[in-house]
Amino acid sequence: MVNETELRRIVEWCAARDVFLMFDETYEFFIYDGRKHASAAKWFESFPETVIVVNSMSKTFAMTGWRLGWAIAHPDIVDAAGKIQSHSTSNPSSISQAAALEALRGADDEVKRMYDAYTERRAWLVPAINAIDGFRCTDPDGAFYVFPEIKAFFGRGGIRRLEFIRAIPPRRGARRRRARHRLRQRRLHPDELRNIDGSPPRGVKADRGSGQALVVRSARCADHRSIAHRALCTAHSE
Ligand SMILES: Cc1ncc(COP(=O)(O)O)c(C=O)c1O
Repeated sequence: MVNETELRRIVEWCAARDVFLMFDETYEFFIYDGRKHASAAKWFESFPETVIVVNSMSKTFAMTGWRLGWAIAHPDIVDAAGKIQSHSTSNPSSISQAAALEALRGADDEVKRMYDAYTERRAWLVPAINAIDGFRCTDPDGAFYVFPEIKAFFGRGGIRRLEFIRAIPPRRGARRRRARHRLRQRRLHPDELRNIDGSPPRGVKADRGSGQALVVRSARCADHRSIAHRALCTAHSE
């Protein structure tokens, strides 16, 4: 993990060479053993043409599928990023934005609960991995994964990399997850586009020819008036 003194030197190094520094703070709340998160935002005002800070709802609030994050950067950079984004993902969905507001304004209890769970798992996982012959793993200072060193398995007399990869068993429930994913991916039949009282849902139009559902008023999606609407919103946000 980078500390404040090192980070300042990196910022100055980049500024002196006219290089952007994109600093990803996605794991800012998942830091262990009393360490402190150093943020490049501290130098944004002094080096506005160098520092770009990015962050995401994905990890802190477990909102990976909601596809929402933010950046602190020079207005010209934000403007250029907006041009690219508007042609690739169009816009952050209104549902994700409402959920993000709720998460950011709410209490930190859930974040704290996740942090405690990660701390506990880390304390169990690292010694468990180190107990496996050939694995070596240090305590990660931040985030919620580990990168064990497994070079003892490779080279002469060891197994080849591809053999090792093929030997990794499939994740438990992988088949069920794939089936669920396929279900979410399928097109909705127009008959599914009904409110609970049987009326057509607001903001959703069915194309009877293709059986495809179109969200025509995404700003009203938060209404969740029908099961189909909710399904669409879920599909939309993933
Ligand atoms: C360091 C880091 N930044 C960003 C992301 C992704 O964030 P998002 O889900 O908002 O694309 C990840 C996710 O794995 C990550 O590990």
